[in-house]
Amino acid sequence: MWFNDKNALVGKRFRTTADTKELLELHGLLAESFASRAEDRAGNAEEHIRRVKQLTGILVRAMLDNDYPEFTAEYADNIILASPLHDIGKITVRDEILKKGDKLTSGESGELMNHTLAGSEILHELAEAVGGGTYIAVAAVIARYHHERWNGCGYPDRLRGEAIPLAARIMSIVDSFDCLAAGCPYSKKVGVDGAAELLRKFAGEYYDPALTDMFLTKMDAIRELY
Ligand SMILES: [Fe+2]
Ligand SMILES: [Fe+2]
Repeated sequence: MWFNDKNALVGKRFRTTADTKELLELHGLLAESFASRAEDRAGNAEEHIRRVKQLTGILVRAMLDNDYPEFTAEYADNIILASPLHDIGKITVRDEILKKGDKLTSGESGELMNHTLAGSEILHELAEAVGGGTYIAVAAVIARYHHERWNGCGYPDRLRGEAIPLAARIMSIVDSFDCLAAGCPYSKKVGVDGAAELLRKFAGEYYDPALTDMFLTKMDAIRELY
């Protein structure tokens, strides 16, 4: 059988740039598919996952255009690929909690908040298994820290400001933006302009102010996604 023939896979496959590109595309699709099932089993999260990836692309390109310090195109690509996996830890959260929206007891919200730790654990193990330097390692960081807030009021570690990893500060902006613009189980829909207004209002409180400014200069491109 082909899958017992190690030589069929080792050395021959995915060696050329074209094959690597194909493999990355396949990875991207798998990640999106799993992530949308984990994120919101009560509803349809496919569009959220797709737009979060597109919004991430818009923000990281703005950062590259602005020569954001120590930010490379390779890191930007890894963040885009990692972005659909931000809530993969929700795979461990019970259905009734995911379906309950914003009316959770404190025990239930603790369980929901645990999706950050569960997600980073799953992705960290995967990253170790495939060796360092891949987008999976970036995804593990995003999964853990994407609910941290600039002023230190987030979770799970109550990190503040630039102590929050850059990839997670990016994700916090784009994830919140889509949740507000299109609505999600935890927030009612306020539309693209309403979401932009709220991001501006909470920049420096919840969101990295410099990154929020950069994101909001791209409203034309953002609007096209909705
Ligand atoms: Fe989350
Ligand atoms: Fe999300």
